[in-house]
Amino acid sequence: MKNRNVIPNILDVIFFNRYTLILFYSFWFLVGILALRKSQNALSAVQYVKTNSDSVSLSSIESSPEFEKLLEILEEKYPRPPAFFLLNQFALNMTDNFLCNTATLEGAHDRFVFVTLDEVARDTIRRRWPEIQIFHWPTPSLYKPFSFAEGAYQTIYLLRSNLALALIKKRISFWMMQQDTFWRKSIFDLNFEDDMSYDAIFDQLGDGDNSLRKEWVNGANWFIRANNDTQFFFERLSEKLAYWYTPDVGIMIHQCNTWNKPKCAYIPYNVTYSWEWMFSDQSNPPYLLQLDCETNGGTKLMQLGRYGFHFVNPDGTCNNQKIASAKSRMENGTVEVQMTKTLPSWGRLQFKLYWYITEYLLWIPVFGEYLRPYLALAGFILMITI
Ligand SMILES: *[C@@H]1O[C@H](CO)[C@@H](O)[C@H](O)[C@H]1NC(C)=O
Ligand SMILES: *[C@@H]1O[C@H](CO)[C@@H](O)[C@H](O)[C@H]1NC(C)=O
Ligand SMILES: *[C@@H]1O[C@H](CO)[C@@H](O)[C@H](O)[C@H]1NC(C)=O
Ligand SMILES: *[C@@H]1O[C@H](CO)[C@@H](O)[C@H](O)[C@H]1NC(C)=O
Repeated sequence: MKNRNVIPNILDVIFFNRYTLILFYSFWFLVGILALRKSQNALSAVQYVKTNSDSVSLSSIESSPEFEKLLEILEEKYPRPPAFFLLNQFALNMTDNFLCNTATLEGAHDRFVFVTLDEVARDTIRRRWPEIQIFHWPTPSLYKPFSFAEGAYQTIYLLRSNLALALIKKRISFWMMQQDTFWRKSIFDLNFEDDMSYDAIFDQLGDGDNSLRKEWVNGANWFIRANNDTQFFFERLSEKLAYWYTPDVGIMIHQCNTWNKPKCAYIPYNVTYSWEWMFSDQSNPPYLLQLDCETNGGTKLMQLGRYGFHFVNPDGTCNNQKIASAKSRMENGTVEVQMTKTLPSWGRLQFKLYWYITEYLLWIPVFGEYLRPYLALAGFILMITI
């Protein structure tokens, strides 16, 4: 008898809550769509890397006359480890800005090697900055503006990793750097290369020593000492990049956090800091301030202009006055971030949101600590909006 009463009640409840049900199904439908879209992006990115991996492979670099020539030049003209920068024609304006900036720092340009991915980039740099050493590596699959988490982005990571590997195998220690950085002083003055207590040193994410993301590789500026351990590190990195849909820094974080060797170290915040420094109290100005607050190269430069970090005059010459002023504004902590005039971009809002989620997950006792090395690996997958 009891059952009779219960069953209609349940039906009633379900019936009256059909809106709840609709909501419930809609939610999972949406999650399903996002997951499908995500998988499709992941598959196409991995497919893109697979199709184009020959042009950026280790063997193609090692067997090329261009690399042979590079080794000779490094031997001859680089008493200290070289610093590599990658660019295609879409990064030229950013690169020009960076070269104006670093031209004010004694000897910095002598340490640079620019890896140009297309002829426009090579010829423009050669014309404008003839003293800059170029390693030309034409890569048709990279002749386009990059967007985060795309196939071309993955391919450039693979090229970077394979180039690193080719250098390590020749026992050449090196810096790998990015042009979207303002140099207040030269990081080469600090001689990180001579400290033998680590095999590799990376810039770190996060916003200070209390940040949960400290000791997470940021990936814009890092130094690698060539030895067997770092060779193994990059062999595994290249293998993983060729098959996994994950950012290279995710793999680096994972390997540094879970392997005993090579010994990873992190550049302190008073030497390299991400754009988050501008939104901090602006004390302890870093030597290098990474300005990676925008995902798009074109708008990035405009954004830098607003913060006073755009130094190229309309006629193409460098504005040294502006560079000096940017340095002193960093030193006295008065870099203006006009949040009211220019709303934070969609790209930056997304990143901020993901950092909040990340910090929240890391903050969970025990579980957070366990999750630490793995979370970054899932970076692309978790970013559902990209
Ligand atoms: C590095 O590896 C090579 C080849 O595997 C080996 O001959 C050499 O002894 C190793 N060096 C060190 C310092 O372990
Ligand atoms: C950065 O801070 C550390 C620790 O406070 C200090 O030892 C080091 O000299 C500082 N480095 C620079 C370049 O200011
Ligand atoms: C680079 O700057 C020049 C001159 O300011 C401009 O005409 C060109 O469109 C810019 N290129 C890119 C890719 O932003
Ligand atoms: C900070 O830098 C600005 C820009 O160069 C300058 O005008 C200002 O006087 C500086 N303030 C201090 C306290 O040095």
